[in-house]
Amino acid sequence: MQDLIQQIENYKAEIKAFDASTPALAEEFRIKYLGTKGLVKTIMGLMKDVPVEQKKEAGQILNEFKIFVEEKYNTAKESTEQGDNSATINYDWSLPGNPTVVGTRHPLSLVRNQIVSIFQKLGFAVEEGPEIEDDWHNFGAMNLPEDHPARDMQDTFYVNNDSNGKWLLRTHTSSVQARVMQHQKPPIRCICPGRVYRNETISARAHCFFHQVEGLYIDENVSFADLKQTLYFFVKEMFGENVKVRFRPSYFPFTEPSAEMDISCLICEGNGCTVCKHTGWVEILGSGMVHPKVLENFGIDSTKYTGFAFGMGVERITQLKYRVNDLRLYSQNDVRFLKQFTGVV
Ligand code: DAH
Repeated sequence: MQDLIQQIENYKAEIKAFDASTPALAEEFRIKYLGTKGLVKTIMGLMKDVPVEQKKEAGQILNEFKIFVEEKYNTAKESTEQGDNSATINYDWSLPGNPTVVGTRHPLSLVRNQIVSIFQKLGFAVEEGPEIEDDWHNFGAMNLPEDHPARDMQDTFYVNNDSNGKWLLRTHTSSVQARVMQHQKPPIRCICPGRVYRNETISARAHCFFHQVEGLYIDENVSFADLKQTLYFFVKEMFGENVKVRFRPSYFPFTEPSAEMDISCLICEGNGCTVCKHTGWVEILGSGMVHPKVLENFGIDSTKYTGFAFGMGVERITQLKYRVNDLRLYSQNDVRFLKQFTGVV
């Protein structure tokens, strides 16, 4: 009995000295002394070994001890909850905080967003489609049947050839045009940003994947003049008033007539460099009036509706805008390259 009394006195001294002046310390105190495996529980367990004639006295001592511990805990808890611990904590409020390193958007995302917001001003809605595509949406519906020689322009990664047809990684975002025409009725006015894939050898000028933004506008009386004005507007917004623009006749199976659009080279300002192959001009997109056959593939009456379409490469626009001279930089994740675009909106 004497031993128990002595032991309890020792514990009391220890408890008195315990610093429970913060919420974390008060919780530590609770666990150590009042928790399910805490001291009070353990000591209460000793009762069973006390001889019967001493049980009453021991019970009283232990009960008092329990109340003593609980009181200390309640007081500590109350004062920490009221935030009344300022006197015991010595913060230096003037110390600088730890700086947070903020990441930046990828240059391709920045430029894609810029392109999208320019066309959104003209009322174009954003549409997206799958990167794994069937042959029909990527080629067939766009007036590029199996044996069409223009398929050679886009070296294709075929994924699977099963009973459901041929599957491939889309070679252009024109496949999203196809999906939009399939599910929407004119008037249609959309842009389709996305990643595309081609079986190219990777070099500074070519990659096996890149990004495009497709545009499509179908309504009554849409003309080539609308196409030109829309794209002029885009170029001025994107590159500024001083950039020169020219259209060149071209060929795409899904448009008739077709044109490619060049802008004056921003790298050498028209004086000639490797980017513009010393011509002073750089091609930035393909475009044209949607081929009547493409419209008819989707049940759109080509005697009533006309439309224009275009497709541009995001990498090329980024190259011209930010003078990036090697396509591989975009996918190498080198922070020294990526952080140069901090602050670019
Ligand atoms: N799909 C073409 C390509 O990847 C680009 C293109 C040209 C898209 C003309 C169009 C268009 O919508 O009308 O080379």
